[in-house]
Formats: sequence, structure tokens, C-alpha cells
Amino acid sequence: MGKQDRRKFLQQGGLAASSLLVGRSLLANTQASSSTFTIWRKPDNTPANETIRLGLIGAGGMGTQDTLSALQHNGVVLTAVCDLYTGRLEEAKKRWGSNLMVTDDYKKLLASKDVDAVIIGTPDHWHQPISIAALQAGKHVYCEKPMLHDVNEGKALIDAWKKSGKVYQVGSQGVSSLGNEKARELLAAGAIGDLVFAEGFWARMSPEGAWQYKIPADAGAHNVSWDRYEIDKKHAYDPLRFFRWRNYVDYGTGMSGDLFVHLFSSLHFITNSIGPTKISAMGGLRYWKDGREVPDVLIGMFDYPVRKEHPGFNLSLRCNFVDGTSGTTYLRLAGTKGSMDVEWEKVTVKLNANVESDDPFLQAQAAANTPGAEARKKMLPPRETVYTAEKGYKGAHYDHFGNWFRAIRTGGTVAEDPLFGFRACAPALLCNDSYAKGTFMNWDPEKLVVTA
Ligand SMILES: NC(=O)c1ccc[n+]([C@@H]2O[C@H](COP(=O)([O-])OP(=O)(O)OC[C@H]3O[C@@H](n4cnc5c(N)ncnc54)[C@H](O)[C@@H]3O)[C@@H](O)[C@H]2O)c1
Repeated sequence: MGKQDRRKFLQQGGLAASSLLVGRSLLANTQASSSTFTIWRKPDNTPANETIRLGLIGAGGMGTQDTLSALQHNGVVLTAVCDLYTGRLEEAKKRWGSNLMVTDDYKKLLASKDVDAVIIGTPDHWHQPISIAALQAGKHVYCEKPMLHDVNEGKALIDAWKKSGKVYQVGSQGVSSLGNEKARELLAAGAIGDLVFAEGFWARMSPEGAWQYKIPADAGAHNVSWDRYEIDKKHAYDPLRFFRWRNYVDYGTGMSGDLFVHLFSSLHFITNSIGPTKISAMGGLRYWKDGREVPDVLIGMFDYPVRKEHPGFNLSLRCNFVDGTSGTTYLRLAGTKGSMDVEWEKVTVKLNANVESDDPFLQAQAAANTPGAEARKKMLPPRETVYTAEKGYKGAHYDHFGNWFRAIRTGGTVAEDPLFGFRACAPALLCNDSYAKGTFMNWDPEKLVVTA
């Protein structure tokens, strides 16, 4: 069909037929201007409303939770699971059916024509290499946080994503929560005035909370594919390095990569920020001296310069695995008018107490200046407003998968894409460098590079 004929055909309303003629990769989504139609090329091969077939790579704690949340959505099925420990593959078959494809080689899963999209729930050191391989294999990706193990891995992943045209979402699910959305809206509406400071905190003390996970009794070199575990193949099989990987720098990213990254993701989403430029961290291994290579107390400080999206502000983050108040965690934004405690299902706005002086000397002076005027009591505005999610809310994790599936089906975008993911994990990863080197780290979140 010639160009002119084709345009005429479309103008005459043959659009639906034309989409069929030109194949399933064209989206039957049209936009009418005064006299022409535009047809957009859908950036993936998954037709709207068609079943999305998932593959799970890394079927441990979070990979399993991710898959359970994903499968709550309509039109989503699991077809394949990859893990290095056969116990996890057996569990997966028990949970999701014996006809699942199971393998210990992620490349085999990526080669499967029955997988449209993958969840990557491996330890951190595999996130970037498997993400790139998945994008190159034409799969959509949901990768657990932190997106990278090292800040230098970012560019290659961004390039692979841009080239692929696939939807890539990082797994800091708080970003899709009602709480984060409300906080973003309230901040933009000026509910706490101009942001000057933010802080976040994680406290834990149980052995599991501090990463001393139970090691399965049957696990050993015979049923763990250790040769596929280490990227640089330095060590002999070690169950601690495999099952308690967070404690070792070859596989994990310490407290900041594991936990601060969630707070960066939420904060950047709420403030529209691209990130801090100055990063410093201090900490130490104070209590959990089990051979781990990472601190169990970590404090980070960050400088966010003025940008068109927000005023200049500072951030302080703390993580303490020797804190008996275990379970306390928060993200608080403080502004010139008040503060906001942000949870995934709740936002509490507290207005600053008083802008008038409560200094007795100044009050006495004011009374002396206006003799006879008795200070009259005033009506006070509400100091605290609490926003809570409606009953029956399925939660951030469910919504995060919903956003990913919607983007896959409509050729749309997600908030927590690789660019966002890079900007959220870089300051977290640079905390480790600051801690190790004992210096400030400088970061350029526009150019995405560490600066001198
Ligand atoms: N979003 C969240 O709230 C959240 C919570 C917990 C963990 N996480 C993230 O999820 C990831 C997994 O953490 P976890 O606690 O589930 O760890 P885990 O040890 O329970 O699970 C990791 C699994 O990956 C498997 N694995 C390791 N290397 C592999 C490879 N090359 N190919 C295939 N499988 C491989 C292991 O056998 C294991 O079953 C981490 O990156 C972590 O930061 C996110």
C-alpha cells in the first residue's frame, strides 16, 4: 500500500483492520488531529489485556513475596523459576505447580519463549548483569532494590534499557504507595512550607533482622550451584556467604544499599529530587561480630542543593541493628511550617507550634509596651492531621506490580525506572565508599558520575 493510499485508508476509518494487517506490534491506539490519524508503535509485543508470563530469578524470601504479589493481579501467570539452591526450586514447584520450568541457569530462563517479563530477586551483585541480559533477551524487568551493586555499573544498565524499549521497574515498592503519593501532593501544596530537612531511621535487634538467617539443614555443595554464585569466583562453597550474603561486600551493599535505598526512593519521589551532591557516612561494627564485613550501625548525612524542584535541604539517615526498640522506622520531612511523617499507608502532618515568642522576658516586655492590654487567649488551628489509607487497601507492593503491568500493557512508563533507580541507589552505595575511605563523596546526579 503506497503512502497516500494508506493515509486515505486510515482516514476512511479502516484503522482496526489496518492494525491487523500490519501485525500485533502496532498499537491500535489512535489520536485524531484535524485531518490525520497518528499510529504509535507499541514498544513491546504484549498486546493490551493479554496474559503476562512471568519468570522469577532468585526465589528466596523477597523473590517469592514479589511473585505472590504479582500473581494477585489478573492476567498474570508464572511459567519459570531459576534459583541456585534446589530446595528453593522444589518449594517453588510445590507452591506454584509441578509444570513450572525450573533451572539453575538464568540464561536458560531468559531464552524461554514462555517468559515475557522477569522478577529479579537475587542478591545485589547479580542485579545489574541479569538485568542487562534480560533486557537484551527482550524481557520486561522488575528488579529488586538496590538496582546496582556498584555505582560504576549504572551506565551500562541505562544504555541497555534505552535500547530495549522494555519496561524496567526497581522494587522499592513504597514509591507506589498511597502514603508516598499523598505526601508528594501535600508537599507540593505547601502543607509543611519549604522543605529544610528530612530524616529516616531503621532500628532492629533480632538475629534475623540483623541478617543472621537460618541455613537450611539439607543445604550443601551438592544442592547449591556455587559455581554460578560468585561473579569473580574467589571462594570455595561457604554456606554463610550464600545464605547470609548481606554480610559480605562481594554480594551485598550493606545497610545503606539494603535499607537507606528505600528512604531515598520515597524521598526522591515525594520531592521530585534527583538526589544529593554531597554524601558522608560513619558507623562501625559494634555488636554482631560474626565475621561480617559490614557495619551494624551506620549514619549518613546528605546535602541536597537548591533545584527548580525543591529548596536546598539536608537529609540524615540512621540504621542501627543494636536497637532494642526494634521495628521503629520512619521517614520525616520537616519544613518551615511543619513536618510530615510518611508511611506507606499513612501520612501525619504536624504544624509547627508557635511563631510567636514564648520567651517570658519578651512576653513581659510586650506587656509593658502595651499597658492594660491583657493577652487574650486565641482559637488554635488543628496541629496534627492524619491521612490514612481506605480500609481494604491492598498495599504498596500490590500497587507497585500494578504500575509495572499497566506500563507493560499500555506501552507506558513507571516512576521507578532505571534512571530513578540509579539516582536512588547511588547515594546509598556512596555511603559505603564514604565509610570505607573516611571522606565525603561528591556525586553529580545530573551527569550520574562521582566527582572529585
Ligand atoms: N523491596 C523490599 O522490600 C525487599 C525486601 C527484602 C529484600 N529485598 C531485595 O531482594 C533481593 C533478595 O533478597 P532476599 O532477602 O530475598 O534474599 P534471599 O537470600 O532470601 O534470596 C535470594 C535468592 O537468590 C538465589 N540466587 C543467588 N544467586 C542467584 C543467581 N545467580 N541466579 C538465580 N538465583 C540466585 C539464592 O539461591 C536465593 O534463593 C535483594 O536484592 C534484597 O535487597 C527487597
